[in-house]
Amino acid sequence: MVSGSVAKEYTPVTSQTLPPFDFASTYRDGNPYPSYARYRTQDPVHVLPDDIANGTGAGVRALLFGHTDCMRWLRDQRLGREWHQPDDGQLLPRQRPNPEPDSFGAVANLFMLFRDPPVHTRLRGVANMAFTPRQVEKLRPQIEAMAIELANELRDANGDDVDLIGQFAFPLPMLVIAEMLGIPREDFRKFRSLAGDIAAAIDFPVDGLGEFLARVDQSTKELAGYLRWLIATRRTEPRDDLLSLLIHAEADEGRLSEEELVATCILLLVAGHETTVNLIGNGTLALMRHPDQWRALVAEPGLARNAAEELLRYDAPVQLTARHALEPVEIGGVEIDKGTHVSFVLGSANRDESVFEQADRLDIRRDVGRIMSFGMGIHFCLGAPLARMEGEIAFATLARQFPKLSLVSDKVHWRPGAVFHGLSELPLSLGSPP
Ligand code: HEM
Repeated sequence: MVSGSVAKEYTPVTSQTLPPFDFASTYRDGNPYPSYARYRTQDPVHVLPDDIANGTGAGVRALLFGHTDCMRWLRDQRLGREWHQPDDGQLLPRQRPNPEPDSFGAVANLFMLFRDPPVHTRLRGVANMAFTPRQVEKLRPQIEAMAIELANELRDANGDDVDLIGQFAFPLPMLVIAEMLGIPREDFRKFRSLAGDIAAAIDFPVDGLGEFLARVDQSTKELAGYLRWLIATRRTEPRDDLLSLLIHAEADEGRLSEEELVATCILLLVAGHETTVNLIGNGTLALMRHPDQWRALVAEPGLARNAAEELLRYDAPVQLTARHALEPVEIGGVEIDKGTHVSFVLGSANRDESVFEQADRLDIRRDVGRIMSFGMGIHFCLGAPLARMEGEIAFATLARQFPKLSLVSDKVHWRPGAVFHGLSELPLSLGSPP
């Protein structure tokens, strides 16, 4: 941790040090950007005092708000994901000693997301082959067909008003990842709440994690149990799906244990939709709030690819990620002790004026440049090519099918949490048919 004395001696890189960053108020209304701007310009390597850092639940100590710092330090292997406490050797965060099999702690311990090399390299190596841009491109016709099917269901469902999250933004990526893994369609709907609980546990607990823990363990066990059953089925009857491919890798080269296989599938299910649903939801909300941009997309749906990239930048589905200092480092004049939990504010880096001109402006035609929405370095999002394509297809489909789409009300409800940034629902009016 940043030691007490270092925290007191901390000399700000600018003339002003701001009050401790307040997670609860920053993320409450879904618009953290004015607060980010203050920290990014006045206190870009912000250190929280002991009491606040401990109160965050995740032990966040230093926050990096600038694009250059985020980019540089996410690539620096002196900051890692695993942190072994000297006293009990347990991994942090969230893992409790001797976790029960299939509990959240046991499964999360095997997520590539939370591991450093060499374990990370092995886990990622196996899944990598399914997510290359070439492999993903092959899914395009299937994803387009799913998007059109969902759009048709939207039109048929509730008359004019629909909830875009429940009826389009959630089912699309969930159908895609479930289909890729080979999970039967009829089973996929039950995962929303299970995967949602696991995502909440990965998320940063704005209002405390305590009440979640028991439920999260239960949800993880349920999902793991289902996957173990499916794995057993695929072992005897392999198919042309990602699950069979991962099982094959396991049998072939002894590279994934069954526990690792289950954990990897759970990570893909959670990461595969908790994020993309928010790209589609946040992106559509931003387009509705900028009618000129929506009209531009409707007039030219071919802009959807660039629009998805700009919307990823403008309102990132993942706002934060974190590392631990594996050795002492100095960031922006601030000494960071070994073990310090450093948070990277990706959503702030995406609004950095030194990198993006008029960064607060939504412009779906801009040459977007290097967004931080998928992270950077060895943990750079495995699913980025897939997510980009899903976003592109979703926005193009909505623009083509529902050119008169509009907000039912400007008051929207954001889900709690700081890492995953998204709406609980988005009521829209489809307008009269084109
Ligand atoms: C818009 C959608 C998405 C966003 C914004 C997003 C964002 C991210 C970010 C920021 C990271 C890096 C976290 C870190 O460095 O600590 C990450 C990692 C990851 N993402 Fe995504 N993601 C998205 C979609 C997907 C999809 C569709 C999949 C898979 C189907 C996926 C699978 C993963 C995996 C497995 C990792 C861990 C990679 C590693 O540790 O090496 N993501 N994602």
